[in-house]
Amino acid sequence: MAAITMKNIVKRYGDGFPAVNDVSLDVRDGEFMILVGPSGCGKSTLLRMIVGLEDITSGEMLIGERIVNRIAPRERNLSMVFQNYALYPHLTVYENIAFPLRLAKRPDEEVRRRVTETAGLLELTEHLDRKPSNLSGGQRQRVAMGRAIVRQADAFLFDEPLSNLDAKLRGQMRTEISRLQRRLGVTTVYVTHDQTEAMTLGDRVAVLRKGVLQQVGSPRELYEQPVNLFVAGFIGSPSMNFLPASVDGTSLSTPLGRFEMPGEQAAAAVGDRGVVLVGVRPEHFEDASLVSEDKRARGSIVQVPVDVTEWLGNELYAYVPYEAPADLAAQLRELSRELDSDQLRTQAVVSLDASSLIAEGTEAALWIDTSRIHLFDPATGENLTRDEDHAARLTRAAEPSRAAQRSTQQPTEP
Ligand SMILES: Nc1ncnc2c1ncn2[C@@H]1O[C@H](COP(=O)(O)OP(=O)(O)OP(=O)(O)O)[C@@H](O)[C@H]1O
Ligand SMILES: [Mg+2]
Repeated sequence: MAAITMKNIVKRYGDGFPAVNDVSLDVRDGEFMILVGPSGCGKSTLLRMIVGLEDITSGEMLIGERIVNRIAPRERNLSMVFQNYALYPHLTVYENIAFPLRLAKRPDEEVRRRVTETAGLLELTEHLDRKPSNLSGGQRQRVAMGRAIVRQADAFLFDEPLSNLDAKLRGQMRTEISRLQRRLGVTTVYVTHDQTEAMTLGDRVAVLRKGVLQQVGSPRELYEQPVNLFVAGFIGSPSMNFLPASVDGTSLSTPLGRFEMPGEQAAAAVGDRGVVLVGVRPEHFEDASLVSEDKRARGSIVQVPVDVTEWLGNELYAYVPYEAPADLAAQLRELSRELDSDQLRTQAVVSLDASSLIAEGTEAALWIDTSRIHLFDPATGENLTRDEDHAARLTRAAEPSRAAQRSTQQPTEP
């Protein structure tokens, strides 16, 4: 096992375009790091540079104490699982898993011991004599995983390993990967598009945009204290709503109505900006008729038209259209395109209690928890209301729990 340290890593492909631009990131020994970002932001490129399948244009890559920039992939002792894993169709499950050990010319006795153990870990024991064509998608995925973990690698690298599985299998495999990583305690970097994977699998999440690292923190830090508009919009589903607002003292005038800033600190951070973008998560709205008196006091109520509602049993989504000034509307559309979001940005998505009787095509009173809103600089995207101390606490709070789980689940030594 080893830490992975990236120092000012740059990757320029032939045309000079920086696919990865000055990324510095420390993955600690035994840590599970998630890498997320829109398509083309450089996730796979970064992973391939760690493994050595791609040259590093500039910067330093360390595995443990060793600089590996000029070290061949096979000398790096890392294991990678790709999205399009290929199993050898003519080999049994046993031999597929054994493959890296055979390559390394390990003695038969050791191969048998390790394959048996890996198969046990992945619940493949009863399928060892089968060929891959006789396995389900999830079982094949587990064989690919087995091939990666059968070697005692210093780190595992996963590039969207579950993306071609159906939702149910993906859910099962997600739990298995999480359990496996905790049990083995091996440093892992995992690339994904999937919100749930990003939020649940890792110790920390790193968000990339156009080759540039935006923020690294626990899932909760990214969700509650995003550094900018991009991270705020990328993490969470449905996405955070962004409402343009003109500032008048401590009050905000938005297309949904007028309400107060979260506090004096927010007003100070906004300074003399005349316009800000207000970020409100869907769950920080509520049907005003369901909000208790004391709760009302720490938020604001707005009257809005409801376009469409979706009752999901455990919650109710309502879509609230609004008009935005042309320049800001264009900016929000651009962001929404970049985030691959199908959400039309001049409509707010709100998540209400399932008991709400709000009906589509009517006006409704919605309560906004204004203590939970964020204010963004429309020019730079910076989150003006981010609380650095609280953010650091959120990431620190996440640390002991996973580390403790690891130490109680002793790694099995083959
Ligand atoms: N061999 C190459 N030559 C030139 N440009 C490349 C090459 N490989 C990737 N790129 C470009 O580098 C950028 C990053 O690509 P990369 O594959 O790392 O993205 P990604 O984040 O993994 O995207 P996805 O989520 O779609 O897999 C993209 O703009 C891509 O077009
Ligand atoms: Mg990729």
